[in-house]
Amino acid sequence: MIKRENPFRYGIAVDYPYFVDREQELKDYSKWLISGQSLVIYSPRRYGKTSLMLKLLRKLKQEGYHTVYIDFFRVTSRRRFGELYYSEILKQLPSWQKTIKKLSSLTMRIRPVISIDEQGMPVVSLKFGESPGSEDITELFDLPQKLSDKKRWIIVFDEFQEINRLNGDSFEKEMRASLIHHTNVGYAFLGSKMHMLLNMFTHENRAFYQFGRITELKKLPFKIMEEYLESGCKKTGINIKEGIAAGIINTCEAIPHYIQYLASASWEEAIESKADIDEVVLRKAVQKILINQTDYFTSQYERLTLHQQNVLKAISIENKNIFNTEFMEKYNLNAISSVQRSVERLLAESIIVRQQNTYLFTDPFFKMWLGTV
Ligand SMILES: Nc1ncnc2c1ncn2[C@@H]1O[C@H](COP(=O)(O)OP(=O)(O)OP(=O)(O)O)[C@@H](O)[C@H]1O
Ligand SMILES: [Mg+2]
Repeated sequence: MIKRENPFRYGIAVDYPYFVDREQELKDYSKWLISGQSLVIYSPRRYGKTSLMLKLLRKLKQEGYHTVYIDFFRVTSRRRFGELYYSEILKQLPSWQKTIKKLSSLTMRIRPVISIDEQGMPVVSLKFGESPGSEDITELFDLPQKLSDKKRWIIVFDEFQEINRLNGDSFEKEMRASLIHHTNVGYAFLGSKMHMLLNMFTHENRAFYQFGRITELKKLPFKIMEEYLESGCKKTGINIKEGIAAGIINTCEAIPHYIQYLASASWEEAIESKADIDEVVLRKAVQKILINQTDYFTSQYERLTLHQQNVLKAISIENKNIFNTEFMEKYNLNAISSVQRSVERLLAESIIVRQQNTYLFTDPFFKMWLGTV
């Protein structure tokens, strides 16, 4: 019997059967991390960093490594970082109930208080020693190194640029001061706010300057995505007309998340209208997405100043050589310096990204929506 479940997934980290390719990356990243190199992995939003690294960690765990994943979007304070980090480390230890004693003997100033959640997993809160108020978590950074045995620890810090929210400067310095000595831990730092993340690792005055090997995660190969879309339709008994898979990929500027989003919407549309996926169905699916996202796009747009809105609109029409008089006059943008300021803000908000001298929308649907307002 043909399975009628939507074969496409988006909005969460994906694994088999929704995860394709990345074979070379899995191989290279494993090799580098296992050999003790630290990695900085960047890409614009929604290219598949989290999915890839979670998959990598599962693979390495099976091979006997200790693995830790921390998402800095969930880290709202130093204490919170300490607690998350501690409990993730604890979970890696065989029979952690027995190891708690050993583990707590490794920190002098910090005392863990451990309770158990509904799944029987440890939840850690931290008590800080002598000097109240000073929540010094530097000791925690050294735990994986202290605990390393034959197998090294592999640690992923996702959305690492968010450390800047936690009074980043000193946190960053303390963290680097510890991590630099860890010969038995491989660290990967990920981020989608490319601008901020790269600043942290490439500016001489930043703590993590030259700390790791910097690598860009690229889009997925066109051909592989095309085959993925076609086989997803085929195995669920939906016919997709020739050239339409390519049309989906192009509409989404080949960004993995949006490809799956539009493929999923097209698939739903085909089921509803009992049709093949053709030009008409594809167009309807695009319209549905734009309607669904209108509130979100409107609020994003309204948060910008009038000048930023105008710059964004101009970029949606023309995205190269934008810092010259001609561009400025054509789109009525006052002064080159104010265009620069607006572009800075749009980059910082990750609404656009720069690739060489071209400015791209991170969300192709936002760009399409802009064309309608
Ligand atoms: N290897 C892959 N094969 C197929 N689809 C993928 C793959 N990687 C990512 N995707 C698609 O992209 C979506 C986003 O993936 P993921 O959350 O891993 O990206 P990200 O780069 O971490 O995004 P963000 O910048 O939002 O953190 C997934 O839900 C999935 O639809
Ligand atoms: Mg992510």
